[in-house]
Amino acid sequence: MNVPLKDTAEWQALNAHAKVMAGKHMRDLFAGEPNRFADFSMRDGQVLLDYSKNRIGADTVRLLTALAAARGVDAARKDMFSGKKINTTEHRAVLHTALRNRGVGAAPPHPVLVDGIDVMPDILHTLSRLREFSERVRSGTWTGSTGKKIQHIVNIGIGGSHLGPMFVADALKGYQRADLSVAFVSNPDRAQIDDVLKTCDPAATLFTIASKTFSTAETTANAAIARAWIANALGEQAIANHFAAVSTNHHATTEFGIPAESVFPMWDWVGGRYSVCSAIGLPVILACGFEAFDQLLAGAHAMDRHFETAPLEYNMPVMLALLGVWYADFFDAPATAILPYDHRLRLLPFHIQQVDMESNGKGVTLAGQPVETNTGPIVFGGGGSDSQHSFFQLLHQSPRLIPCDFIAALSSGDDFDDSRDLLLANCFAQTEALMKGRTAAELHGVPDNLKPHRVFPGNRPSNTLLLDSLNPFALGQLIALYEHKVFVQGVIWGVNSFDQWGVELGKELAKSLQPALAGETPLGPRDSSTAGLVAAYLEAKGASV
Ligand code: F6P
Repeated sequence: MNVPLKDTAEWQALNAHAKVMAGKHMRDLFAGEPNRFADFSMRDGQVLLDYSKNRIGADTVRLLTALAAARGVDAARKDMFSGKKINTTEHRAVLHTALRNRGVGAAPPHPVLVDGIDVMPDILHTLSRLREFSERVRSGTWTGSTGKKIQHIVNIGIGGSHLGPMFVADALKGYQRADLSVAFVSNPDRAQIDDVLKTCDPAATLFTIASKTFSTAETTANAAIARAWIANALGEQAIANHFAAVSTNHHATTEFGIPAESVFPMWDWVGGRYSVCSAIGLPVILACGFEAFDQLLAGAHAMDRHFETAPLEYNMPVMLALLGVWYADFFDAPATAILPYDHRLRLLPFHIQQVDMESNGKGVTLAGQPVETNTGPIVFGGGGSDSQHSFFQLLHQSPRLIPCDFIAALSSGDDFDDSRDLLLANCFAQTEALMKGRTAAELHGVPDNLKPHRVFPGNRPSNTLLLDSLNPFALGQLIALYEHKVFVQGVIWGVNSFDQWGVELGKELAKSLQPALAGETPLGPRDSSTAGLVAAYLEAKGASV
């Protein structure tokens, strides 16, 4: 690991191999290898990965897995699962896997030690508290201050305290009850919370304030608005019945007025973007029931086990990670697209965007040296069907190479519904079109001058992930799959995937600008652009009062 990544024999072998593969077209690879699907697909539990539509052959897989082995992926995964403090810049263990750690059969889960202390009893105790609390709310035993049953859950959080639970709650909408709505608020623009509150009855609303630190500016601002809304409508004494929290900051939650019985812990070894399996899942548990959440954890655990034990070449997260490195570093692909062909998975790209970009959007190695390779890609995406009619043009014909992940569920639940015929036909067709393309010779009846416009170069890689159905278990597997993919890439690039110092500077500057925008303090010395923007705001504000 002391040799710079680019100087390793494995990297150089891949460099040479990439030059060979760059001259090959996938349509020829498919024509010459009739077993590509069988050779380049794998299944774990309820997830099938087809990675045959990639610019790879058996040699590529061998060379990529050799790179993973040389970079110490095997030891790194052991270190993570065992609670070693691999987040070295924050001196923290990384144990989102412990949140879903479970025993085989009736046996208790194996201990996971941090600083010699087993974290499992605390996790299991929190899960049983979450179960009990959610059952009380859902059954109507827990009521608002006037005795009214809770009918609206409003989660206030941002980043990992928002994107993960919002995505999961939406994906599991089929598990929600008609008499219990769930909404998510993150934006400090009042418009968002005002829109949500318009649909809620204060006497029947329970807010879940999700913030590991309980000091994030956007969240505390929205929590204060919600608090005032309840106090105005029902009185100050109502706060205890209408707020729950998930946080490590018990001092702040107590000061807010939330009783200890409604505060659920977080731990410093769970990063925000990896926290959906922690108590941050509270709005999901309230909306969909504890059983669904428990199945989500079981699915995530199944993927953890696969990742922990499967050999590198048969390991789904490792394979996805290596393909990402292959394109980012050897084909200079700037981005990757996440394209769910399922209405209920439409928020997946936003969740993965944070997991990936906040983890691997790094410019220095663990040793603090500038990276010499490309690291995490730009992650973007959207619902596949809608995206086909917007940005797919660029995916098919722009000179940029954008590898894509297509994600679909074979059924929406226990039944097959006919709408999937059209949905999946498009999903599969897009991967085929990206791979094959269309040559000028295949364009019949097209005038010559239009042919260049209608040629598709093809040879554009994609992975397809098929879930057996959209259920909590499969969803848990999918979430853990991407978490581990990102982890493996971080190990290969030699970066710390678990800190996020890059978000701090903007926060600090905003803190110093806010009093000036509020008109409380003069701006002080600033660059002319920032000063000009502040002046424009103050002028508009002054004109409006
Ligand atoms: O600003 C980034 C971040 O720290 C994320 O990593 C995190 O998910 C989010 O803010 C919210 O933090 P908190 O849960 O402490 O409010």
